[in-house]
Amino acid sequence: MNVVTVSTQPFTGQKPGTSGLRKKVKVFAQPGYLENFVQSIFDSLSGQEGKTLVLGGDGRYLNDTAIQTILRMAAAAGFGKVLIGQGGILSTPAASAVIRKHAAFGGIILSASHNSGGPDGDFGIKYNLANGGPANESFTEAVYRRTQSIGAYRYVDAPDVDLGALGVAAVGEMTVQVIDPVADHADLLETLFDFERIAALLARPGFRMCFDAMHAVTGPYAREILERRLGAPAGTVVNGVPLPDFGGGHPDPNPVYAAELVAALADPRSGLSFGAASDGDGDRNMIVGRDFIVSPSDSLAVLAANHHCAPAYAGGLAGVARSMPTSCAVDRVARFLDIPCFETPTGWKFFGSLLDAGKVTLCGEESAGTGSDHVREKDGLWAVLFWLNILAARQESVAGIVREHWRKFGRNVYSRHDYEGIETARADKLFAELRGKLPGLAGTEISGMRIELADDFAYTDPVDGSRSEKQGIRVLLQGGSRVVFRLSGTGTEGATLRVYLERYVADAALHEVPAQEALAPLADLAEKIANIAGITGRNAPDVIS
Ligand code: G1P
Ligand code: ZN
Repeated sequence: MNVVTVSTQPFTGQKPGTSGLRKKVKVFAQPGYLENFVQSIFDSLSGQEGKTLVLGGDGRYLNDTAIQTILRMAAAAGFGKVLIGQGGILSTPAASAVIRKHAAFGGIILSASHNSGGPDGDFGIKYNLANGGPANESFTEAVYRRTQSIGAYRYVDAPDVDLGALGVAAVGEMTVQVIDPVADHADLLETLFDFERIAALLARPGFRMCFDAMHAVTGPYAREILERRLGAPAGTVVNGVPLPDFGGGHPDPNPVYAAELVAALADPRSGLSFGAASDGDGDRNMIVGRDFIVSPSDSLAVLAANHHCAPAYAGGLAGVARSMPTSCAVDRVARFLDIPCFETPTGWKFFGSLLDAGKVTLCGEESAGTGSDHVREKDGLWAVLFWLNILAARQESVAGIVREHWRKFGRNVYSRHDYEGIETARADKLFAELRGKLPGLAGTEISGMRIELADDFAYTDPVDGSRSEKQGIRVLLQGGSRVVFRLSGTGTEGATLRVYLERYVADAALHEVPAQEALAPLADLAEKIANIAGITGRNAPDVIS
């Protein structure tokens, strides 16, 4: 085996964020940049010799060349085998499913999730552990440390592997098995839900659904599951061919970027009763009913409250978990079900230990991510199937189900305001000043609202005891309302300030008040506490979701 060692210099800034290392394609395309990071991952592992690595990505620009580089480096790192999705494709939840099913040592996923793709877009890479979940902070820190001192990377001198057809090839002494990227994941999902009942719903006259794959990775998964296994009519999946630049779009399933789907559901002439979309790498989801968008926080709460509709969860939930900024709607369901509810920092990696320990069954984030213990990633199609299973069991509309949920539990009106591309120094100043104010806030009244608690969220993992500090500022108000401030850990330009607004409304007569109207006093309070306009010069958020 011809192993080539190339000497290299560290690059600055190879620090994994909320979900792996994400940078502009142009940054990743620098000679040695990808190699340094991959070698740093391999140098941080031990015991991989002869073991199996899972590899795949969301098909974005650079996916194909990066895959060949990683295959050669994995061979030099001593892996015995790589399982790779055909064409180098694996959605994030599918990669997790494959790691678990084949008891792999770990996996590398190439994706920048919902960020735009193409030569001017973003690229990303992350490492998942044997449980199928994103590596924890101690591992990502070790990788970062290694990137700062790396002096060489290694690869096996071998030609590219043909990933176009299923089969077995070799890179040096390492076996490369090209697998169907869809089958394992689709098979797993089929064990969780009542496919017969969902198929009957899809065949019902008057029920029509549309799944928007946004030219991203879920197209082939959705076609196989919805159109082939469940018998939905051809054309149910739109934008179903994954493209390296996502057709020039932004593969983020929210009302802004999936506006066509939302408009179709609002138009009675479309005949649609259910709409759904997923993101670049297939882990996020959006659920839309007839003229009704389900907020992701509500979606998690509704799934938890209706868990009995799906065979896999009918026996009960061990517990639920949500990221700190996610609305407290699911907490109310947990209280009702008398099960534990965990509040973790943002990012799926924090759910892994709770899922592994059997402490939770469902988990989710306000950023359109929901999932369960079937894998260790959030799972867009899983959420869509869960919703379909509930609709099939209850025979009610999406809006009807959510409104009834609000009547029973009250409504946690929720919105996120994003200020993008802020100068990093200004963002740091805003947080420094905000942190300075925290001790004095509790007990005060601002804009007529009484602050009960104001803190810098820190988390101690109840399973392994690891501690994560500075995970966002929480301001809790009397009556169950909240304002949360955080800086994004996935952006690739400047800083993005996220302000999360939540107001608890028990009175059903007020449930239909438009969210931004109901939340205006909280936006006002956020401005007063954080001086956003004064420090950033921004008078309004760039994105409201
Ligand atoms: C964002 C979301 C977060 C999610 C992450 C990866 O991270 O807010 O919930 O886990 O993307 O999909 P952020 O940019 O806020 O750090
Ligand atoms: Zn994603």
